[in-house]
Amino acid sequence: MNDAALSDAVRGAVAALEAGALVILPTETVYGLAADAADAEAIARIYEAKGRPRFNPLIAHVTDRAMAERVAPLPPLAATLADAFWPGPLTLVVPGGGDAVCDLARAGLDTVALRAPAHPVAQAVIAAFGRPVCAPSANRSGRPSPTNVADAMEETGRFAAVALDGGPCAVGLESTVIGVGGGAARLLRPGGLERSAIEARIGPLAAAADDAHRSPGRLALHYAPDAPVRLEADAPRGGEAWLTFGVRAQGPLAFNLSPGGDLREAAANLFTYLRAADRLNPVAIAVSPIPDRGLGEAINDRLRRAAGFVG
Ligand code: TXA
Ligand code: MG
Repeated sequence: MNDAALSDAVRGAVAALEAGALVILPTETVYGLAADAADAEAIARIYEAKGRPRFNPLIAHVTDRAMAERVAPLPPLAATLADAFWPGPLTLVVPGGGDAVCDLARAGLDTVALRAPAHPVAQAVIAAFGRPVCAPSANRSGRPSPTNVADAMEETGRFAAVALDGGPCAVGLESTVIGVGGGAARLLRPGGLERSAIEARIGPLAAAADDAHRSPGRLALHYAPDAPVRLEADAPRGGEAWLTFGVRAQGPLAFNLSPGGDLREAAANLFTYLRAADRLNPVAIAVSPIPDRGLGEAINDRLRRAAGFVG
């Protein structure tokens, strides 16, 4: 998009948000389905479009730390992480929540999830709107997240007044969600920002076990295609599609997440290839082993949930 086309598109999106309508919004992680964070009726439309349980709260997207602080003051640990990693694939769950992010968007919790996305189109829309927008991934609840505008349209396009095309998502996995309340920071959802990068700044993260019920994106079955998913597969069986990593993949049903064994590339391809494999109507989707280091932690988290295992 050139600058003039971009600003027309941004204006259209802002008008839709102001009217309480939904917007398909590109971010660097996955495509979101966005609405005015303060407008409970608009937020209700998001839950309806996704078929999402109302107890599962949404992330409020902001341009930067200053806009976040107007929603809820960031505790020191959260401020450190925001300064280090925003804009980027990091969501901070902090105590608070006034009217800026309505009760329904927070699912009635006394915490609020905040993220500053890095994608220039998301930044432009939020800046022009001037206030936070809530945006869950634009998939129907339980399905893989969309990483391009066509996949987003297929999932929830009929509920959106405007869809912005920002190209394929560079990260391809949802943001890492960190809970920062009293005490240590907790990893609520592994994601596009590696644990090691966060721990290098603030030390070891606590596990999410106690909070797991409060971050339902961690519940099985999630991120799931229609075909069953079979993990740790050394080779495909008859009729199976095959997602490989770092090994040679052959045949019409094979997709290579990263021939060179690069986890960043595999993350960017994961949901796109899961969907592409699913479209072939295979008896199952076999996935070769993926190392658990770096972004592999989040990739394996999504794959276990796609396969229906409780994490
Ligand atoms: O990368 C992303 O985060 C994408 C893009 C669009 O920004 N959004 C996204 O939103 O993945 P969603 O709604 O699909 O996932 C939000 C996750 C869920 O697991 C939800 O339970 C958790 O964040 N969450 C939101 N508010 C929370 C809160 N107050 N406490 C604990 N978990 C929360
Ligand atoms: Mg989601």
